[in-house]
Amino acid sequence: MTVQFSPAAGRDRFVGSAVSRVDGPAKVTGLAKYAGEFAAPDLAYGVVVSSAIAKGSIRSIDASAAEAVSGVIKVITHENRPATSDNPEDYQDAVAPPGAPFQALATDRIVFSGQPVALVVAEDFETARYAASLVRVDYGVVAPRTDLAAQAPESYDPPMKRSGIKPPPEPWGDAETAFDAAEIRVNGQYRMADEHHNPMEPHASTVVVEKDGTYTVYDKIQGVSNTHDYIASAFGLKPEQVRVLNPYLGGGFGSGLRPQYQLFLAMLAAKDLGRSVRVTLTRDQMWSFTYRSEALQTVSLGADRSGKLTALRHDAVQGTSSYEDYQEVVVNWSGVLYDCDNVKLTYSLAKLDTPTPGDMRAPGAVTGVYAIETAMDELAYATGQDPIQLRLKNYTESDPTEEKPFGSKALKECFREGAERFGWSRRNPQPRSMREGRELVGWGMATGIWESMMMQSSAHAVLTADGRLEVGNQTGDIGTGTYTILTQIAADTLGLPLDHVTTKLGDTQLAKAPVAGGSWTAASSGTAVMKACRSIAEQAFKLARGMDNSPLANADFERVVFSNGRIELAGDPAKSVALTDVLKATGTAKLEATGEAAPDKDFAKEYEAYTHSAIFVEVKIDEELGQVRCTRVVSAIAAGKILNLKTARSQILGGIVMGVGSALHEESMLDHRIGRFMNHNLGEYHVPVNADIHDIDVIFVDEEDKANPLGVKGLGEIGIVGVAAAISNAVFHATGKRIRHLPITPDKILADD
Ligand code: MOS
Repeated sequence: MTVQFSPAAGRDRFVGSAVSRVDGPAKVTGLAKYAGEFAAPDLAYGVVVSSAIAKGSIRSIDASAAEAVSGVIKVITHENRPATSDNPEDYQDAVAPPGAPFQALATDRIVFSGQPVALVVAEDFETARYAASLVRVDYGVVAPRTDLAAQAPESYDPPMKRSGIKPPPEPWGDAETAFDAAEIRVNGQYRMADEHHNPMEPHASTVVVEKDGTYTVYDKIQGVSNTHDYIASAFGLKPEQVRVLNPYLGGGFGSGLRPQYQLFLAMLAAKDLGRSVRVTLTRDQMWSFTYRSEALQTVSLGADRSGKLTALRHDAVQGTSSYEDYQEVVVNWSGVLYDCDNVKLTYSLAKLDTPTPGDMRAPGAVTGVYAIETAMDELAYATGQDPIQLRLKNYTESDPTEEKPFGSKALKECFREGAERFGWSRRNPQPRSMREGRELVGWGMATGIWESMMMQSSAHAVLTADGRLEVGNQTGDIGTGTYTILTQIAADTLGLPLDHVTTKLGDTQLAKAPVAGGSWTAASSGTAVMKACRSIAEQAFKLARGMDNSPLANADFERVVFSNGRIELAGDPAKSVALTDVLKATGTAKLEATGEAAPDKDFAKEYEAYTHSAIFVEVKIDEELGQVRCTRVVSAIAAGKILNLKTARSQILGGIVMGVGSALHEESMLDHRIGRFMNHNLGEYHVPVNADIHDIDVIFVDEEDKANPLGVKGLGEIGIVGVAAAISNAVFHATGKRIRHLPITPDKILADD
């Protein structure tokens, strides 16, 4: 899909400046289309009937009343469902955890509440929705297990590890003995809540059956390659029979990493009927797949009187589904963050009768860092240390879990610049010592950390004789600003104005690239685009040097600059030639190149790569009402080179808002008797709104990193990590009450201990 930018006059160096989103106009004018909005001739509409029970089986299903409704084309259930691959591995997408992925309508077995039990396909959406309400299901009910605390005693070490997810490191030293011998000890159990992603755009897929029998699929996904390969293997199609597009996402936060059941059902119906089909999930159905599973966590810290850590234990039990071993990195962060001689970290899973949990913005780090950074605040009070001083005392310049130095770590600068901006030195450390009118005031802080990753990616670039450049690949812009930063990188590499560059994303006909996730897209796709453009620059330079009377006849590539649409000799702009003239004079219609980016193995052998942050928070609490307001946040971020100050800041703002949500508001509540998330709507699951959000100040500290040629480390996730701990620490400072169970709702503030 095409995105174009209107001119930004007179600038030449775009990388590093606050360029507005190139896709902004398309989004605000409604030109940007989402997966459930693409038109197709003769489109049919599928509505999902969701299971009313969490566990058991379908004894019988009666679709006759639904089928009798005028306009209903077909009701698909497990009884009449067309066959798809019978090999469970064919349903394992690119980011699937170990296990047998859920297949909609495959059997009569029910394994989670809200599981699809039928798809009603009709001529229009309203008819399908009405008919879906007429489908009658008789269930054999089995008591579901959804209570993590009840299942935790049966937790297990996942036998198959999830690709890309590091299991906890081997323990070092003797954490138990050191803890028992420690002068100062803190020990706490920490709980969060289950959370759901709640992007504005619900999951939707439009499957278009083309005249030649191929399929064009518009799917809400963070990377079209994942949908493409999943469909091809599940439905036994050749790769060239499927084209997948998803130019825009209305938010993903990880919920769009894996192909979901609405895609499978839309494809199933389209293939069966030979007709284009759209399936859009409702908001409440958004609670029937993927979520951030809470974890039961224990952190035990031992230290000497000066605050130096002598023992660190962090144990977590997290929920997974009955059919997959979902895993994320929860406890390792504690080992990476602090220098300590005796460390033991453990992570296990407990089976629950819920859908498989999934990655949600900074998966695992949000969870684990909440626990360790709250425990560190408890240690600060136990040792009488300032929380920043305590962290500096245990600071590490290398990653203790890998025994390798960090490629860069400007966390000290985050502490310094963040504290100064916040006014931390004016804090009276005594709990309940600060007050404003009827409100208690609390100041708290925490550290954030996220891994800086890179994935193998390619990008294609084409420069045409009119001086216009098109770049692109398959990855998704999940709202992070990928269109914009790739446009900036391309423009700068070839010295073109922004409005001469068009970036295309989210189409399997473009150069290969993985899903957008893990904060790896800027490094991965950015490097690939830069390499593709550099290759074009080299080609153009060679042509320019060979032109008759070329002003660059004796130049070499290292001595020229691409600027203002021209190739010029460094330091001698009089000797230059326009790119358009180069192509015209040499009779070249276009120059094109593919750039390949991959993680730097030599770098990875020597260094570990993480982003860091320091978050400072002010809360104001009305103790009589139990109301907590997060009135001020300063977040200082160390994430390498910042490509775009505006979209970068937006990423951090969004992360902080989500962090406020998990600290104070967001909680998916399970009724364990029926195994269902009960508050499956935006009225009862409160995502922060404008009234909940006050001053947020974002600082990017200088940090130079060499993990990739751009020096970027990724920004999509670091903004949220540590926010909940900083808020919970501020709540303690305000009230003197340590609440170790998120979200910190009024009932917890008001409760007697
Ligand atoms: Mo992110 S949770 O990898 O979309």
